[in-house]
Amino acid sequence: MINGGKPLSGTVQISSSKNAILPIISACLLTADECIIKDIPGLDDVFVMCDLISSLGSRVEANIRKRELYISTPEITGHTAPYELVSKMRASFLVLGPLLARAGKAKVALPGGCPIGTRPVDLHLKGFEAMDAQIEYGNGYIEATARTGRLKGSRVYLDFPSVGATENLLIGAVLAEGCTSIENAASEPEIVDLANFLNKMGARIIGAGTDTITIEGVDRVHGAEHAIMPDRIEAGTLMTAAAITGGDITLRNVVPEHLKPVTAKLLEAGMEISESLSEIRIKGVPRPFPLNIKTHPFPGFPTDMQAQFLALMARAQGTSVIVETIFENRFMHVNELRRMGAQIRLDGRTAVIEGSENLQGARVRATDLRAGAALILAGLAARGTTEVQDIHHIDRGYEFIENKLQRLGADIKRM
Ligand code: EPZ
Repeated sequence: MINGGKPLSGTVQISSSKNAILPIISACLLTADECIIKDIPGLDDVFVMCDLISSLGSRVEANIRKRELYISTPEITGHTAPYELVSKMRASFLVLGPLLARAGKAKVALPGGCPIGTRPVDLHLKGFEAMDAQIEYGNGYIEATARTGRLKGSRVYLDFPSVGATENLLIGAVLAEGCTSIENAASEPEIVDLANFLNKMGARIIGAGTDTITIEGVDRVHGAEHAIMPDRIEAGTLMTAAAITGGDITLRNVVPEHLKPVTAKLLEAGMEISESLSEIRIKGVPRPFPLNIKTHPFPGFPTDMQAQFLALMARAQGTSVIVETIFENRFMHVNELRRMGAQIRLDGRTAVIEGSENLQGARVRATDLRAGAALILAGLAARGTTEVQDIHHIDRGYEFIENKLQRLGADIKRM
């Protein structure tokens, strides 16, 4: 429940990254030794991922106060990622790589679609076939086996720089026989964090963060300690909250480099932004300038910030255009924003937004994680009360979002 119209102010600490920790938890399957993961975010998806690897043989302990996970996998005792988990959280598909690498076989449910798109996994599977895995389909599952019991290093070209496919193949290549190069790889910061963790385990990876990643397979890897990188999308979301309310906030525990495309667009919209090594201060303006935005793989403008910026542009002084090039149906938030008075025209993957002075509070529904975040942002700026329903979507990717916003002066509470 949000009563809008209050400019945010103060300082907020950013949590560590959901999209970095999920593949890193999966990578712990590669070794019998203990891995210690620090600065974990308290997110539903983290615990789902821990449940999944536990069902595959991992021992997982969490010290919530110290925000640490202790994971060791003496041996792989299960090889199946069941439909009920994969359909709930697509990242479950990321156990395919480590299972093939460590145990030579895996049975993983095909992730169904989700609100933002069909989200196929063909690039993951094509890559593993190139690494000498045999893939069989049946009853909504894929069964993968390394033909000789061990994946073989290979050159893999990704038709699209898929984040998940890059992560799955990267983890799988660590224990493969020989060298693998992943070309047209995704270069998101979360992939660099994963590669850093794998190299601490004794993997031999170069090029993470570029479009070509080279992995020299090793026979085994050992345990490692790793602190997860800050969540650039949570940071971008809170920066946009300051922008849409005309506030003035300082974010702590950020990597400004990871936010360059978001910062560039907020500056273009008229915000004032200053950066230090691990902090960003942003001052909003009464009404943002309109923007033209096209989402792209990193280092382009992130699709995970598209919904939040669409909410911001609903208040711009002019007409904005946002093109979503990554997912085919990532405009579920548009209908809900229209209920708050936003003037938005959709044409396929293009949204045209006529900015208006004020949004009105309304009862709206979160359809997916970032759409839910966008509705909170709109509620913070709207006149009157906004009630956002189905907020479990939001809890998947934002830790205590209402507490962080309350501390910044927002009138928001969880019912
Ligand atoms: C990751 O999803 C993120 N999730 C998503 O964040 C993010 O939106 C996405 O990357 C793009 O940046 C996690 O990291 C857990 P992709 P992923 O594979 O790996 C197509 C959030 O809000 N594709 O890069 O699933 C696919 O259909 C979530 O935190 C294929 O066609 O993204 C999509 O259109 C949402 N074949 C596009 O590529 C494949 O084999 C991007 O997918 C794989 C993907």
